[in-house]
Amino acid sequence: MKISNRLLTIASFIEDNSFVMDVGADHGQLEIYLVDNRKLNGIIAVENKVGPYSILKNALNGTDVRCILGDGIKQITEEVDTVVIAGMGGNLIVDILKDDITKLRNVKHIVVDAHRDNELVRRAIIGLGYKIDKEVIVFENKKYYFVISFKKGSTKYSDEQYEFGTCYKDPLFKQFKEFELNKLNQELIKSGEAKSPNKVKMEKLKAKIVRLENYGND
Ligand SMILES: C[S@@+](CC[C@H](N)C(=O)[O-])C[C@H]1O[C@@H](n2cnc3c(N)ncnc32)[C@H](O)[C@@H]1O
Repeated sequence: MKISNRLLTIASFIEDNSFVMDVGADHGQLEIYLVDNRKLNGIIAVENKVGPYSILKNALNGTDVRCILGDGIKQITEEVDTVVIAGMGGNLIVDILKDDITKLRNVKHIVVDAHRDNELVRRAIIGLGYKIDKEVIVFENKKYYFVISFKKGSTKYSDEQYEFGTCYKDPLFKQFKEFELNKLNQELIKSGEAKSPNKVKMEKLKAKIVRLENYGND
């Protein structure tokens, strides 16, 4: 089965012999790929919606993957050392992880792909006692996705690393930066054209543009 580059990248971040819980498994594309191509100690696939869950369950019938109709990491088990949460907004990812942080006791590796609010995700997971191990950009369906691998530990990060990511050496970063600067500049122009422009918002936008222009140039 062919899966997207985004899911392939997530799969490549999962280590051999790990025990994975994938939260928000949807139809189980990642699991099918992992079963066919990787040597893992176990996989738990969690989905909280009945429709996708029955497709997931059917797709993984006959494999060792344990499928759970459930919410987030509530049903995590002791042996899970790797949690994957992908294809959702950053707010939801953070809510799922912070729902009960005692559940993360044995989790030494978290792989995420937030479709927005990556700064929030980086700050929250680092605040939980992890550090960024790897981060790459995937460009797919005209969108930039940041796939981030966090491991237990601590390191200091600059505000720009939280805000724009740690992968400024990624071949796609320049392209992402141009795209993002264009978006921010358009937003600034639009804000300036409003009947009563929000000056505070405009100043914030200008400062963000300068920070991004200066980031990752070396
Ligand atoms: C857009 S899909 C992403 C599927 C896959 N992870 C990917 O990256 O392609 C997000 C899935 O997460 C599920 N989901 C959302 N909140 C959840 C939660 N709290 N617990 C389990 N699944 C959840 C949704 O029902 C949906 O199927």
